[in-house]
Amino acid sequence: MAKKTIEDINVTGKKVLVRVDFNVPLTEDGQVSDDKRIVAALPTIRYLLDHNAKVILCSHLGRPKGKPDPKFSLAPVGARLSELLPDTKIWFAEDTIGESAKAAIDDMKEGEIVLLENVRFYKEETDNDPEFAKALASLADIYVSDAFGTVHRAHASTAGVAAYLPAVAGFLIGKELGVMGKALENPERPFVAILGGAKVADKIGVITNLLNKCDSLIIGGGMAYTFLKAQGYEIGDSLLDAESIDLAKSLMQQAKDKGVNLLLPVDNVVADRFDAEADHKVVKSTDIPAGWQGMDIGPETVKLFAQTIIGAKTVIWNGPMGVFEFPAFAEGTKQIAAACAECEGTTIIGGGDSASAVKKLGFASKMTHISTGGGASLEFLEGKVLPGVAVLNDK
Ligand code: 3PG
Repeated sequence: MAKKTIEDINVTGKKVLVRVDFNVPLTEDGQVSDDKRIVAALPTIRYLLDHNAKVILCSHLGRPKGKPDPKFSLAPVGARLSELLPDTKIWFAEDTIGESAKAAIDDMKEGEIVLLENVRFYKEETDNDPEFAKALASLADIYVSDAFGTVHRAHASTAGVAAYLPAVAGFLIGKELGVMGKALENPERPFVAILGGAKVADKIGVITNLLNKCDSLIIGGGMAYTFLKAQGYEIGDSLLDAESIDLAKSLMQQAKDKGVNLLLPVDNVVADRFDAEADHKVVKSTDIPAGWQGMDIGPETVKLFAQTIIGAKTVIWNGPMGVFEFPAFAEGTKQIAAACAECEGTTIIGGGDSASAVKKLGFASKMTHISTGGGASLEFLEGKVLPGVAVLNDK
């Protein structure tokens, strides 16, 4: 059922607690090194400011162990937010539910922002403690969830708090669920899913769900070698998820039964060790030598995969094709990103590694949608209920 959004309620003059995902990378000297998640929250923040709400922003950053740790302070995020919203007064509270937060909220005016300190400085947050959720709720009149990257967590600020306030979705949640939901429920076809990453076990849910929906399933990255092994090939020292060999066999059989075109690498860039400077060469998937390991898909595979991707009307990509952090093994991922960029259909990039790869390789602006959630987008593609969405009020 559709969820209420900020456009369905009156926010003017109200204190609005907005759970955002400002879990952003910081440089060693404490500067925000990638502000994508902050920028992604701006449409909701601006809407609330324009409607004269009092905006109280709440987020986690990193995984502090349930107690204050200056390394994980949201202060650098506040500094970046001030640059992005130069005309807005932003108060920074040194706690989340304590005296500093309460004083700032008492003093703030309509059209201003209070940024609360890292909510994970309290262990009650990840415990989804009801008293803590109640204390958070007592700061505001309305709760807005816009932290797409964290909606797969049932924590106090992402789920518990919704029991005590009117709870609605912000624009980022709407956008993420809208684009990915359409691809899953009513995709324009052909619908091609590209999956990479190391462990088959981590992707079983998403493969199983997508096998019921897509026309072609492309498997690359480290996990492809478990599938090649399941086909009876020798894979040398390539990554092997030994416990998942039978599962890989069963997934290949399911693809066949459902008429899904499952594509695996036909050639690979193999290296004599896991190192950026390792000796490397291209070999067929049937000829991976003992002592060598697959680090990237090869040029024939790129052609095969790219052809399918370019002809698609909907593409979802999660997980790089190789060890793209090492330039010698980034070509496969780069070419797949180029094929997605060339595809005229809808192209959706899951968050996490695939999003970083697309960005690092310079193709970000060519994609229809790059998710701000790694774990969250994966769980959504698995067809799981996202706790932070489930708690919001129905329309
Ligand atoms: C993320 O970066 O995936 C989200 O911010 C969630 O963070 P977490 O995995 O620490 O819950």
